Amino acid sequence: MTTLSGYSRRKMTKPDTYSREDAGQPASLHPAYASTVLRSPRQPLVRIPQTITETTGPRDWDRLMGGAMADLTTQHAAMPQGQRIIVSGRVLDEQGRPVPYTVVEIWQANAAGRYIHAKDQWDAPLDPNFTGAGRVITDGEGRYRFVSVRPGAYPWGNHYNAWRPAHIHLSLLGPAFAMRLVTQMYFPDDPLIEIDPIANAVPMPQRNEWSRGSISPPLNPTGRWAICSTLCCADHLRRRWSRADGR
Ligand SMILES: [Fe+2]
Repeated sequence: MTTLSGYSRRKMTKPDTYSREDAGQPASLHPAYASTVLRSPRQPLVRIPQTITETTGPRDWDRLMGGAMADLTTQHAAMPQGQRIIVSGRVLDEQGRPVPYTVVEIWQANAAGRYIHAKDQWDAPLDPNFTGAGRVITDGEGRYRFVSVRPGAYPWGNHYNAWRPAHIHLSLLGPAFAMRLVTQMYFPDDPLIEIDPIANAVPMPQRNEWSRGSISPPLNPTGRWAICSTLCCADHLRRRWSRADGR
C-alpha cells in the first residue's frame, strides 16, 4: 500500500535516500553539556553510501512490536500521581510531509522527577503506578498520541545545583533504520529551559520555534481531566528527515 506521502507500508519499491545535512541539529560537541566533551567524535565523520541497508527498514511495525502502549496512566492497578497530560502531534519530514506507520517511543520521569532505573538515586519517591514508558505507531497521516503525567524536574551532575527542566524523551524510528532520531520535548512554561545546557544546545532559530507548542483542550477525547499539549519541538524533528532528491 502506498500512502499519500509516498512511503510504502508493506513493501519497498524504490528506496528513499535522505538528507546528510544536520541543519538545526545540536552540535556533537557542546561544552556546556559536559558529557559531549567525552562523547563527541575527535575525527571528521566518514560518509558511507546510502544503500538499501541504510534507506529501508521494517514496515510491519504493528505486527513486530506488539500492542500499543499509548496510555501511561493505565499500566498499573491505580492512577499515577501527577498532572495528567495528553501529548500528541504529527511526525513530518523535512518537506513537511507526514511520516506514517513509524514507531514513536517515549520515556520519562514520574511527577516527582524520578525514573525507575537503578542509576537514578535522586531522593524523590517512585510511583508504584507509573513506569514511564510508551510506544505507538503513527497513523496514515503521521499522527501519534500519548496520555501520561507531566514529569517533574530533577537534578543532574552537569554542574553545581544543575536541574533538568521537565521533559519527555522520544525515539522515532523513521522510514529506515539509519533514520532513527532520539530527542526530547519540553513544556513551554518551564523556566528551567532557559538555563538547561541540553535544551540550549539546539541552535537558533529552531530553539525559538519551540513556542509553537500549544495547549488544546478540544484534543482530549478521554472524558477525563487532562491538559493537552502539542509537541513543542516538532519542527526540530521535522528537519531531521528529508530525501536527498528533494521530492
Ligand atoms: Fe531525562
